[in-house]
Amino acid sequence: MTKRKIVLTGVTTSGEPHIGNLVGAILPAIKASKDQNIDSFLFLADYHSLIKNQDAQLTYKSSFEVAACWLACGLEPDKVIFYRQSDVPQITELAWILSCLTSKGLLNRAHAYKAAVASNEDQNIRDIDKGVSMGLFNYPILMCADILMFKADEVPVGDDQKQHLEMARDIAEKFNKHYGEIFTLPREVISKSHGVLPGLDGRKMSKSYGNVIPVFVSQNKLKNMIKKIKTNSLEPGVPKDYQSCTIYKIYKAFATDEDCLHMKDRYDNGISWGEAKESLTELMNEVLTPYWAEYEKICSDRGYVEKTLLEGAQKAQAVAEPMMKLVRQMVGIKSFNGPKTL
Ligand code: ADP
Ligand code: TRP
Repeated sequence: MTKRKIVLTGVTTSGEPHIGNLVGAILPAIKASKDQNIDSFLFLADYHSLIKNQDAQLTYKSSFEVAACWLACGLEPDKVIFYRQSDVPQITELAWILSCLTSKGLLNRAHAYKAAVASNEDQNIRDIDKGVSMGLFNYPILMCADILMFKADEVPVGDDQKQHLEMARDIAEKFNKHYGEIFTLPREVISKSHGVLPGLDGRKMSKSYGNVIPVFVSQNKLKNMIKKIKTNSLEPGVPKDYQSCTIYKIYKAFATDEDCLHMKDRYDNGISWGEAKESLTELMNEVLTPYWAEYEKICSDRGYVEKTLLEGAQKAQAVAEPMMKLVRQMVGIKSFNGPKTL
């Protein structure tokens, strides 16, 4: 019998879910969860949200929105383990144990920390750690605990998360060597088909850049946002390059191959930016409308979302607690009602 594959991913609850999250994480993870040979762990990384902001209302609101988004997009709670990170306290407990084994030097090399230091240096700020919280510094360890706790084989993430997976493997190996084999070495799975979806200004679509198209917006707002996508000043009738075009890149993430071919032709034949934006608006309306209807239903029943997450947390704890029991024992934390040695 082949071993079932464990696939795990999380979304930080620090803003409205956007269409980059949708194509980069949510839809591929839901698709994988329908595979009978896969056990899926999908969660709201709400403790990660505190690294990015200290706006309590934002974290609270976003946690609900991200949960409702997963459910509206087709996640089937009885086929997966769907939970809030904060409902499984064993994860933060494991993060502490792992942090005691991880050298500070490894975390000094983490991209998010290095970027903060580089920005201070660029501004000639004396204290290179200015504005760096311990949460930001330890971010890779919490993510590592999320992953190792459930022995994930595969972790679908965006390209920016690759380094965190390398660190998770390093930390898992170190633990396994020192205390004994317990953790699985996880592998990142980076979606090649869509790459990174650009935002309204052409940079990566990200909450941090304020350039996102939220998944749940009114038709009117969607139309106005698409109108704001940055383009060059080429006139209608002049052939245009689709490959470098933000409108086309977003279009491609949602359209069929046949529609993409047709769109490429229209670029070659000098489509106007207005027409291109109109086609994208039509497509997005078509793709998102079913999700909007579901989302509205789910939002009117907050109790259902809460109940679903608590049931998921119970399932997650049923895996996490026995795992932690072993880990505690391996590091020497154990009841005295037994033999004098481990
Ligand atoms: P953000 O950059 O907006 O803060 P997150 O870091 O919360 O997004 O990302 C959650 C998931 O969505 C991750 O797996 C990430 O790789 C994916 N993702 C985020 N933005 C994009 C994008 N523009 N294109 C593709 N995937 C993305
Ligand atoms: N750090 C991830 C992000 O910003 C979110 C996340 C937290 C995550 N823990 C995880 C993703 C574990 C995959 C596995 O996108």
